Amino acid sequence: MKNTALLLIALLALSCNKKTDNVSKEVIKDTVSTSNFKMYDMSEMAALMEQMYAHNTQLKERILNKEDLGTYPVAFDKIHTAILTESSDRDAFFNEQAIKFIALQKAIYADTVQAKENYNKMVNQCLECHSKKCGGPIPRIKKLLIP
Ligand code: HEC
Repeated sequence: MKNTALLLIALLALSCNKKTDNVSKEVIKDTVSTSNFKMYDMSEMAALMEQMYAHNTQLKERILNKEDLGTYPVAFDKIHTAILTESSDRDAFFNEQAIKFIALQKAIYADTVQAKENYNKMVNQCLECHSKKCGGPIPRIKKLLIP
């Protein structure tokens, strides 16, 4: 039980929730009192971001192993519509960054020769938006870069 709570704190520390401390306490209370594993309520956008992170972790491996890169995951288009934790985050900057990001993500599958360069451009675009919008996951996103 304690381990579950610690895991949740670790996860929260990596998200961009600014009220991490308060949320953690609530989660611990919930976790301890219900004895059910309970994930904190992720927004649609946060869940999409986690999906993007997972896909690109695999894509990095595929590029490094010179495997087939597959195709652009159409679900990523939801970046333009998914509900955010803070709806005010969807401003002109966000929309502009999102359009650039989707274009860079799509470019990866189209060109296997430049895959590494195009992939790193895409990751840098994640970082570009995160530098203004959601600082918490930046160290995690940097790990996606291919050296
Ligand atoms: C257009 C801006 C933008 C781009 C591009 C972007 N993000 Fe995000 N990201 C956000 C915002 C805003 C949030 C907060 C979402 C929320 O809480 O609703 C977020 C949240 C996250 C989170 C935390 C999710 C959680 O568990 O709470 C991760 C991890 C993440 N992004 C990774 C990535 C990765 C990896 C990429 C590129 C593949 C990326 N992001 C591209 C804006 C962006």
